[in-house]
Amino acid sequence: MSVQIDTSLEEIRRFRPSPEFAAQSVATESLYTDAKADRLGFWATQARELLHWNKPFTQTLDWSNPPFAKWFDDGELNVAYNCLDRHVEAGNGDRIALHFEGEPGDSRSYSYAELTAEVKKAANLLTALGVRSGDRVAIYLPMIPEAVISMLAVARLGAVHSVVFGGFSADSLRARIDDAEAKVVITADGGWRKGKVFPLKNAVDTALEDGQSSVNHVLVVKRGGNEVQWTEGRDLWWHDEIAAVDADHVAKPFPAEHPLFVLYTSGTTGKPKGILHTSGGYLTQAAFTHKNVFDLHPERDVYWCTADIGWITGHSYVVYGPLANGATQVIYEGTPDTPHQGRWWEIIDKYKVTILYTAPTAIRTFMKLGRQIPQSFSLRSLRLLGSVGEPINPEAWIWYRHVIGGGSIPVVDTWWQTETGAIMISALPGLTDLKPGAAQVAIPGIEIEVLDDDGNKLEEGGGLLVINEPWPAMLRGIWGDPERFKETYWDKFQGKYFAGDGARLDEDGDIWLLGRVDDVMNVSGHRLSTAEIESSLVAHPLTAEAAVVGAADETTGQAVVAFVILKNSHEHDIADPDEIAALLRAHVAQQIGAIARPREVFIVNELPKTRSGKIMRRLLRDVAEGREIGDTTTLADTAVMQIITSKVR
Ligand code: PRX
Repeated sequence: MSVQIDTSLEEIRRFRPSPEFAAQSVATESLYTDAKADRLGFWATQARELLHWNKPFTQTLDWSNPPFAKWFDDGELNVAYNCLDRHVEAGNGDRIALHFEGEPGDSRSYSYAELTAEVKKAANLLTALGVRSGDRVAIYLPMIPEAVISMLAVARLGAVHSVVFGGFSADSLRARIDDAEAKVVITADGGWRKGKVFPLKNAVDTALEDGQSSVNHVLVVKRGGNEVQWTEGRDLWWHDEIAAVDADHVAKPFPAEHPLFVLYTSGTTGKPKGILHTSGGYLTQAAFTHKNVFDLHPERDVYWCTADIGWITGHSYVVYGPLANGATQVIYEGTPDTPHQGRWWEIIDKYKVTILYTAPTAIRTFMKLGRQIPQSFSLRSLRLLGSVGEPINPEAWIWYRHVIGGGSIPVVDTWWQTETGAIMISALPGLTDLKPGAAQVAIPGIEIEVLDDDGNKLEEGGGLLVINEPWPAMLRGIWGDPERFKETYWDKFQGKYFAGDGARLDEDGDIWLLGRVDDVMNVSGHRLSTAEIESSLVAHPLTAEAAVVGAADETTGQAVVAFVILKNSHEHDIADPDEIAALLRAHVAQQIGAIARPREVFIVNELPKTRSGKIMRRLLRDVAEGREIGDTTTLADTAVMQIITSKVR
C-alpha cells in the first residue's frame, strides 16, 4: 500500500473570517482549549448540554475492550425525543423543521409540532406491525418527508433502521435485507427524478419474490402514482394504515449504547459492510458538529444539505444533527437540473437558505454549466457553504465561494466517513483562516495523526490518516462480523483507527486529504468497491475475468473503468466490442445500481499480473487515465501492458 502524493499545486490563498462573521460565531476558541485540557470531560459536557438524558450518565468512555468502545454507557435517552418532542416542549413547536420541495414543484412544510405528531403515528403503526426494540426495518424511499419520519419512528421504538439508497438495485436491496434480517420494508410506489417517476415498489417485489426473506410487511408510501403489484397480507399502504392509528405515543428511553442504525458501505471486498452506529455518542457528535461547523443559529438559519438519506451524510446532517439542534431545513426530492439547470438556486432563493452543504462533484458540474445560471437567482441569503465526500480542488472551492457565496462567505471542507458517523476534520468558520483545498484541522475533541507506512507519526508530509483516540460517533462494529471490524480498521496500526485515506500535513500542520489508498473508489462522493463491481462483471456469462479501477474524472472525481476478458467460448461471438461493453455496463447497473455503472468497459485478452497472480491495478489506472505506464518490472509478462494499451487507445 503506497501513498500517492498528488497535490502538486502549491495553494497559498488564505481567507480569514470576516469580522462580522467572527463576531456572531457559535464556536469559540475555548472549544479547542477545553478539549485539549480534558478530552473526555469536554465530550461529557457536550453530551449533557446538547441532549436530553432521561437517565444521566456517570461514565464517559469505557475503552477497556478495544476496539469496542462504550460512550456514556449508563445513561439513557430517546433519540427521536431529542430530535422532536423536546423542541415542542421548549416552546418551539411552531418552528419549521422541514420545508419539503418535490421535484414536480409540489411543496409541504412541517413544523416541529407537526413532524412530532407524524412520527408518533408512524411509531404506533410500526408497533402494530410487530416492530419491537432491536428489530431491523429497511427503508427504501425517495427524499420525501416520510423518509425522515420513518427513520425517526424506528429510532423512537429503539428499533434499528437500515436505509438503502433508492438508486440501488433489487439485488443490492435483498442483500442488505438478508444481512440485517429486516422485518419490515418501508418504500414508495415510486419517486420523481429527472421529470419521470422511477419505480421503487417493484424493486422491493423483485427482491422479495422468492418468499424466503425475513420480511413480514412492506409499507408503501404513495408518491409516484405509478401502477404497483400488490401482495395481499404483506403489502400495506402507508396512508391507509396511518389514518387508523393513535396519535399519542410516549417515547421510552434506551441505553446510550442501544443500536440506532446500520448503514451499508463498500469496502475492499465484494460484500458491503453493515456499519453499526449507536445512540448517545452518535447523536452527541452529530449535534455538536452540526452546530459548530455550520455555525447554526436555529432561530434564524435555513439549512440545506443536498445529500440523500441513503448515505451517511443524509443520516447525520439531514436527520439527526439538524433535528437534534432544532434547525429549520430544506429537503429536495429531485435532481439539480429538473425542470431547469437553475433548480437548486431557485430553491435557495425561494426558502432563503442561509447554509448550504453539498459535494464537490455537484460544484464542478455547476462550474461547467457556467455562472450565468446561479447568477440569475438571488443567493444573497447564503452565509456559509460546506463541502463533503471527496477532496475539493482549490479551483472548485474558489468558484463555490465567489459565484455561489458572493465572494465573502466561509467555505468549510469537512472530512469524515460512514464509519466515523460525524465530521472529524473541518475548519470552524468563525475561527479558522481558510485554505482552499484543505480540510485543515481536527474538530475539538478529535485526535488525528498522519503516519508513515511503518506507523511513525509525521510532523509534515504525506502518509496515512489515522484516528488516534476513540470518538463518540465512532462505528461500534460491522453488523454480524466483529472480526472483520478489527481486521479492517484496527490491525494495521495497533490501537489506532486506520481510515483508508492518504493525507498530507503542511508546514502549518493543516491536513490535506489525498484520496483512498485501498481498492475503494470515490465516484461523485459515493464509495464504490472495485471488488464488488468485478464480481458483478464476472457473474455475467460472457466474462471470464475482470479488473476495475477508479480513474480520475473531471466532474465525478473518479470514474469506474473496467477491463474485461471474455470467455473463450464467446470470443468469436463478438461482432462489436462496443455492444458488449454496453451490455456489461448495463449489467452492472442492473445488479448493483446505476451509480456503479462503469464509464468504460475495455475488452482485453489479458490483465497485468504479478508473478504471484495479483492484478496490478496501478498500471490499469495509468492506461485509463491516458498516462505513461509506470514501472512494469514486477509483472509476470511485461508485454501485456503494450497489448492492453494498443487495444485501448
Ligand atoms: O476518501 C474519503 C472521502 O470519502 C470517504 C468516505 O466515504 P463515505 O463513507 O461514503 O462518506 C462520505 C461522506 C462523509 C473517505 O474515506 N471523503 C469524504 N469527505 C472528504 C473525503 N475526501 C476528501 N475530503 C473530504 N472532505
